[in-house]
Amino acid sequence: MEAYAKRIEREALKYSAQEVKSIYFGGGTPSSLPTALLTSLLGSLLKRFPCRGEITIEANPATVSPESLSALRNAGFNRISIGVQSLSDRDLSLLERLHNAADAVKAIRDAKNAGFDNISADVMFGLPDQTAESVAQTVETLLSLPITHISTYSLSIEEGTPFAKRSFALPDEEKEREMYRTIQSICKEHGFLHYEISNFALPDFESVHNSHYWECGEYIGLGAGAHGFYGGERYANGEDIDFYLNAENPVVDKSVLTEKDKKEEYYMLGLRMQKGVKDDGNPNIPRLIKDGLLEKDGDFVRLTERGLDIANYVICELFT
Ligand SMILES: C[S@@+](CC[C@H](N)C(=O)[O-])C[C@H]1O[C@@H](n2cnc3c(N)ncnc32)[C@H](O)[C@@H]1O
Repeated sequence: MEAYAKRIEREALKYSAQEVKSIYFGGGTPSSLPTALLTSLLGSLLKRFPCRGEITIEANPATVSPESLSALRNAGFNRISIGVQSLSDRDLSLLERLHNAADAVKAIRDAKNAGFDNISADVMFGLPDQTAESVAQTVETLLSLPITHISTYSLSIEEGTPFAKRSFALPDEEKEREMYRTIQSICKEHGFLHYEISNFALPDFESVHNSHYWECGEYIGLGAGAHGFYGGERYANGEDIDFYLNAENPVVDKSVLTEKDKKEEYYMLGLRMQKGVKDDGNPNIPRLIKDGLLEKDGDFVRLTERGLDIANYVICELFT
C-alpha cells in the first residue's frame, strides 16, 4: 500500500504543478487504505496541485470510524461519498456488503460529527426482489440524515463476477423504472435537485468534480486503472497493480479526440445534466423534440422526463 501511494506521488510529477478545482479519491474503496497513508498522500498531492475547492473521498461504511473520519477531515477532505447502497439488511446481505444498515447510518452521523458538511450516499436499485416501497424507505431514511447528495445506480450484473453465477429474480424494467421515479419524487419533495440522470443534490451541493466530467473538462487521473483527459488527449493506465508499480510509464492507451468524438462526448455527457446542451443545430433535434424526448429551454436542449427514461436511445438518435 505504501509503495502504491509513493507511485501515485511519482506519477503526479508527470503533470505540471497547478491549482485545481477539485480532487477525488475513488472509485472503489480508497478508505480501505490506512488513514495515515491517505492523509499523507493528500498532503503531498496538495503541494503539487493546490485546491481550494471540493476534495472528496469515497468510503465504505465498514472501513471508517469516528477517528479515521476526523483525521480525513482534518487532512483537507471536505466531501465524503458513502457506499450505503440500501438501508434494508436483506438487500445488503444479498449484495454481500461488509456492513449492515445500522453501520451505514452510523457512518453518516460520524462523518457529520467529524465536520463533513457535504455528505453523499450511493443507493442501488433494481436489486433482486426489491420493491419500490423498500427503495422509498431507504431514501426517506437517508433524507432524514445529514446528507446533501444522493447518487443512484441501477444494478448491472457484470460478466465473470460471482454475482453473475447466482440466479436471481430481477425486477422487470417497469418495476425498475418505478423505483427510479420513486427516488426522483421523494428527492424532489425534500428539495433535492435532480441535476443529473443519476444524481440529486441540495442547491449548491451538486458535485463540482463530476459536473466537470460531464462538461467535458480536462482532468488528471492517477493510479492503476485511472483514466485521464489532459492536453486534448484521453489516456488510460493499466489496471494491474504490479504493472502500475513497476512500469516506467503506466499509460496503456491514449487517444486524441477528433472533432466528431468531441461532439459525441458533448451530447453524451451534457445530456446527462438537467441543464442540457447548447442547441448546435443538430438536424435530429427537432424530430426528438416532436417525439417528446427533448425539450428546448432558451439556447439549450435537455431530455424530457420521457427522454430521461431512454436516454441512451435519444443520444444514439442524435448521431443517426
Ligand atoms: C465506485 S463505487 C464506490 C464504492 C463505495 N466507495 C464503497 O466502497 O461502497 C460507486 C458505486 O457504484 C455502485 N455500483 C457498484 N457496483 C455496481 C453494479 N454492479 N451495478 C450497479 N451499481 C453498482 C454502488 O452504488 C457503488 O457505491
